[in-house]
Amino acid sequence: MAVYRKLDPDRIPKHIAIIMDGNGRWAGKRALRRFLGHQQGAESVQYVVEVASRIDLPWITLYAFSIENNLRRPKSEVSFLMKLLNNYLTSNVQRMNDNNVRVRYIGRTEGLPPEIQETMRWASAETAKNTGTTLTLALNYGSRAEIVDATRSLVHTLIAEAHQRGISLEDLLQVDGIDDRIGESQLAQGLYTAHMPDPDLVIRTSGEQRISNFLLWQIAYAEIFVTDRLWPDFRGIHLLEAIHNFQQRERRFGGLGAGTDEHLEGKDDALESPEAIAAALLHS
Ligand code: FPP
Repeated sequence: MAVYRKLDPDRIPKHIAIIMDGNGRWAGKRALRRFLGHQQGAESVQYVVEVASRIDLPWITLYAFSIENNLRRPKSEVSFLMKLLNNYLTSNVQRMNDNNVRVRYIGRTEGLPPEIQETMRWASAETAKNTGTTLTLALNYGSRAEIVDATRSLVHTLIAEAHQRGISLEDLLQVDGIDDRIGESQLAQGLYTAHMPDPDLVIRTSGEQRISNFLLWQIAYAEIFVTDRLWPDFRGIHLLEAIHNFQQRERRFGGLGAGTDEHLEGKDDALESPEAIAAALLHS
């Protein structure tokens, strides 16, 4: 049966984040230059976003360019990736409007070349009114940097408020209580993703089993799907396969599974001490 017929339309994830990896390997396997792998990778972006909009996926976030890519790749590759991004945005705005897709960005985008920032602003303004899928491109993005930025922003807010009330920061935290003023929700409000739900599903292509500094805070409870397929070979159908795989999983968010009938309240005697378990294991 075609995979899209197997999908449960009521359980489409709200937010899918993708680590697009393997452009270089795709090119290497064909004895082509890395640039061509990136170019083909940009095609995959187009196909995947198109399918995301068809299934009404509300949020899709693509790791397009990390801070580390910016710092550690040859200048020529970085400038090619920038050109590709520029081309992608200029040639896809019409298509995005046709598909009701709006484009946004996360990352230290102020560190990108000014002319690219200009195109980015233009593309997001042109698509801002669309209400279907939100495509978020992570550009010059690093998750640790994002958490640092969120912390700085929270500290600035607190200092400004203390200043306004004519008290010290220490007094502000003492009066209001540090737990109420510095918690998960206040920190999350300073993340680039404050306006978005956390991803339900993270997809990584090319078989690497790591997260590479991507949305570390936000993916605390996300399901992870790793495929050996290289990003330039990834198409809409593979997005649907990943969603189908996601729909087979049981998400527990740290709780017990739906089918678990064992409850331990009032059964403290049933618990073995670690020493008893170790002794039993020794004699088994
Ligand atoms: C990893 O491939 C991918 C990237 C560094 C960036 C992703 C960029 C694109 C998909 C192209 C353009 C994007 C947009 C939004 C138009 P790699 O070079 O690390 O591959 P390798 O690990 O096989 O060398």
